Amino acid sequence: MKNIAVFASGNGTNFSAIARAVKNGRIKANLALLVCDQPDAFVIKRAKAAKVKAVLIKREDFSSNCDFELKIIEILKENKIDLIVLAGFMRIIGKELLETYKNRIINIHPALLPSFKGAHGIKDAFNYGVKVTGVTVHFVTNDLDGGPVILQEPVPITNKDTLKSLEEKIHKVEHELYPQAISLILRGKMKLKGRKVIIQ
Ligand code: GAR
Repeated sequence: MKNIAVFASGNGTNFSAIARAVKNGRIKANLALLVCDQPDAFVIKRAKAAKVKAVLIKREDFSSNCDFELKIIEILKENKIDLIVLAGFMRIIGKELLETYKNRIINIHPALLPSFKGAHGIKDAFNYGVKVTGVTVHFVTNDLDGGPVILQEPVPITNKDTLKSLEEKIHKVEHELYPQAISLILRGKMKLKGRKVIIQ
């Protein structure tokens, strides 16, 4: 059984969706670890409730990003982590993690990449006035929000939508799409060909 680690900084609804999918067998893996960088993040409470080991690693406790990531890698190795799942982890992944876990780090983004990159994907799409936005699951590379796309799902924006209703629609899609992508990867159904992800 493969071990997965979720990295999160905030609320953690995606963490909970993944934990549920592991529990009901939709994802056949062990949710071995939550890595969190924010002491007050609600996701830590979610991990406790789900009986998932949580580690808090604060960037300010380290003198460099490199040292911060080396500590994370040490913990990931101790826990024999095979796949890193970023779920609202609001930090840029650096060289150390990218090299050690090459093609084994994935992220979820609340827009149809390459549109609306960055930390405010939902709001940026809403304010821009696009009629369709969505959710993207992608591999993490040194190109920020620019790694190979694994799965995408569109979400229409109607005249009736408010930012809040759009956020709710996006999160609902995320909670389905992320477990689906994780399951495909763990079952070996995905092959990288250049920057294209082939799903078999
Ligand atoms: C999610 O909407 C995720 O797509 C977004 O953070 C949210 C975390 O929600 N990630 C990014 O914007 C990454 N650029 P959650 O804490 O409830 O899972």
